[in-house]
Amino acid sequence: MASQKDLDFTYSTIDKIFRLSMGETGDYSGAMYNGDFSLTLEEAQRQKHQFIADSLSIGPGSKVLDMGCGWGPFLTYIKGRGADGRGVTLSQGQAAACQRNGLRVDVKDCRTIRPTDYGRFDAITCIGGMEHFCSIEQWQAGQQDAVYADFFQHVADLLPVGGRFYMQTMVFSKNMPPFERIRLDADPDSDAYYMALMVAEFPGSWLPYGPEQVIRNAEPKFKLISKSSGRLDYIETIGQWRKRFRAFSLEKYLTYASLLPQLLINPAFRGLIATFRKSPNRVCFERELMDHYRLVFEKV
Ligand SMILES: C[S@@+](CC[C@H](N)C(=O)[O-])C[C@H]1O[C@@H](n2cnc3c(N)ncnc32)[C@H](O)[C@@H]1O
Repeated sequence: MASQKDLDFTYSTIDKIFRLSMGETGDYSGAMYNGDFSLTLEEAQRQKHQFIADSLSIGPGSKVLDMGCGWGPFLTYIKGRGADGRGVTLSQGQAAACQRNGLRVDVKDCRTIRPTDYGRFDAITCIGGMEHFCSIEQWQAGQQDAVYADFFQHVADLLPVGGRFYMQTMVFSKNMPPFERIRLDADPDSDAYYMALMVAEFPGSWLPYGPEQVIRNAEPKFKLISKSSGRLDYIETIGQWRKRFRAFSLEKYLTYASLLPQLLINPAFRGLIATFRKSPNRVCFERELMDHYRLVFEKV
């Protein structure tokens, strides 16, 4: 799995830039346009929050755990519904920002939470966290199914029978190139190159092979209630993010400049910077190297 160091690289590095671009508690996961791209990004993110909260019957007093809560967008939304939310993230920058914004968030590995930590919950979410649960090394060692099965066992232990779990995750799709070809020195317009940029941006992370692998490992603890692809919605989300990341503010551009020295000492950083020129996520979705799924599960 991605370590705390990996996730601090991916998320804490851009903490200030993200908050200046997307707002203090902005979303960093695919929005839900349902194909209506006349919506603003904020409207589409709100539509996603509503869909999740409705699917999980979250209302006043509901006890909710948000695994991999980012900068706290979903916790902020359900606070408005009167729910009792708690979040965990492995990024120290995100946790500190959430705490400053009045959210109950700890730096903690969500995959190993036990009922003795916070008790049980009425509903649990994991919005864009599973991408980080299995590393390349674990996949190569044939452990990917075991990693996911163990995660679902932990989630099941935190819910009552009939309790619901929402997750969305990127997955590999039909045009994924073979692993041996995925290299940063591949042809710069090749599928393999874009996938290599993804690996550089998200160290320690390897995706599930389609929603089937996720669903298979959720059983027999959970039954699937709904499944939908958010691939096209994610392409639109990324386009909107890029406009916001580029929008000028002196404080933001000074922060970008302060990151430049790391280019000289950290080769992985060059991969991160390359993603600002052209979004590998977007290209991977467009070429169907990757897809994105929203899944609602119920504990049986
Ligand atoms: C793509 S961001 C999504 C953030 C947020 N859910 C949202 O929708 O904006 C992925 C999040 O998963 C978190 N994460 C990944 N693996 C984790 C783990 N094992 N334990 C806790 N958080 C984890 C990261 O720290 C980050 O907050």
